[in-house]
Amino acid sequence: MAEHPGDLTARDLAVFWHPCSQMRDYRDFPPLEIVGARGARLELGDGRTILDAISSWWCKALGHGHPHLGAALRTQLETFEHVITANTTNAPLVRLCERLLAAANGHPPALWGAAAAPGRRAGHFGKVFLADNGSTAVEIALKMALQAQAQRGAPGRTRFAALENGYHGETVGTLSVGDLGLYGAPFRALCFPVQRIVGLPYRRGPHDPTWLDTGAAWPAIEAGLEAQADTLAAVVYEPVLQAAGGMRLFSPDLLRRLRSWADARGVYLIADEIAAGMGRLGALLASHLAGGNGRVSLGALPDFAVLSKGLTAGTLPLSAVLTTDAVYTLFDADYGDGRAFLHSNTFTGNALAVAVANAVLDVFATDDILGRVSALAPQLRAGVESLAARRGYLHGVRACGFVAAVDVCAAEGTPLDPARRTGYAIYREAVRRGALLRPLGDTMYLCPPLTSTPAEIDQMTAILADSLDVVMGA
Ligand SMILES: Cc1ncc(COP(=O)(O)O)c(C=O)c1O
Repeated sequence: MAEHPGDLTARDLAVFWHPCSQMRDYRDFPPLEIVGARGARLELGDGRTILDAISSWWCKALGHGHPHLGAALRTQLETFEHVITANTTNAPLVRLCERLLAAANGHPPALWGAAAAPGRRAGHFGKVFLADNGSTAVEIALKMALQAQAQRGAPGRTRFAALENGYHGETVGTLSVGDLGLYGAPFRALCFPVQRIVGLPYRRGPHDPTWLDTGAAWPAIEAGLEAQADTLAAVVYEPVLQAAGGMRLFSPDLLRRLRSWADARGVYLIADEIAAGMGRLGALLASHLAGGNGRVSLGALPDFAVLSKGLTAGTLPLSAVLTTDAVYTLFDADYGDGRAFLHSNTFTGNALAVAVANAVLDVFATDDILGRVSALAPQLRAGVESLAARRGYLHGVRACGFVAAVDVCAAEGTPLDPARRTGYAIYREAVRRGALLRPLGDTMYLCPPLTSTPAEIDQMTAILADSLDVVMGA
């Protein structure tokens, strides 16, 4: 039962420290009280319903309250909730690993959907390591890469290169490889140095004629990498979509070039697919987009692919690191040789989360979620393009799959003064008008659940347009 909102706000502010927030902001714009959520909609304590236009930090791939996921969760709850996964196994856990590998290896849904036969399918990825959040999984990939390099006879390869404007999480290791000062600056004293790859080939999306062309940008990127090639353990990147860095898109051709460069130099690739994977860009892995022809490309698969968020469609915390047999074999030895990967998280392989992740793959296969995203993506893009065309202060529309973004700028296209907090004002207006549209600075974006209807997508776009008009002047 909903409590009186005023009471709840006061009690909330007395005890709860909200994530990624200046708490003072809540004094005059209190946190929204959620009393229910279904599909793309959030039900508020004051009786209103608003659209979750950002999929709750990009994780609610199948919307809220999906019945198949709930049923799978309840069934598992009746069986067992959680048992240590060092020393034990269970059928749903093994099945999830088999299915994830099959999907990541580019097999068709028949081989990873609900009716897929048990067993491992051939392909690039061969093993899955599980954890319980995205940041931890990126850290696992960093640690695996470092230890694998040492165990294959390259102990001097201890450094990482990562893309400018990247984001990989909130732990010290992931803040180190990340490049967003907003989140990392206070902790720089703890972070390790990372080589930054600059001059990225940013593009507007798959409709951009230069989408698959990194020709002009590559020589400088390659020269930068060459300078430290002998010391690098791995290159870390968000494939194609830099989400927290402003929903910026770069050419998938960069992945292909990085793959061939890294192969020639003995450097690993770590693709952080946490935001871009699980269908967000219309492919199960964003790394599958490297071919650019709308078909699954296996030409730029990384040595480590990191998944979370959509892995359970935002139902329960779970993350996965997929890697190759070549990497795994470097850790396979007698115990006394000290080559094991001794990373442990209490909730690795949590049975409830695993059950939901299996159910997510069921839905992805039976409802052709990837096909749905590809079919509706042009509508999302057209909506944001058309609202930008009529407002001179909007610049840089980009869109791919179920993400579309635009920057609110000064008249000449230069950034607004961040101190004015224009994006935050637009966010507040959008909430009043019926959509949760949390911006990234002055970048406004839509990142709807992959199950959103065409009408819901249009409604999100219309609320964004109206909110812009109120704040910026029609
Ligand atoms: C690309 C990327 N990597 C890592 C993370 C961190 O994941 P988590 O918040 O689960 O720790 C995020 C979260 O937004 C992300 O977008």
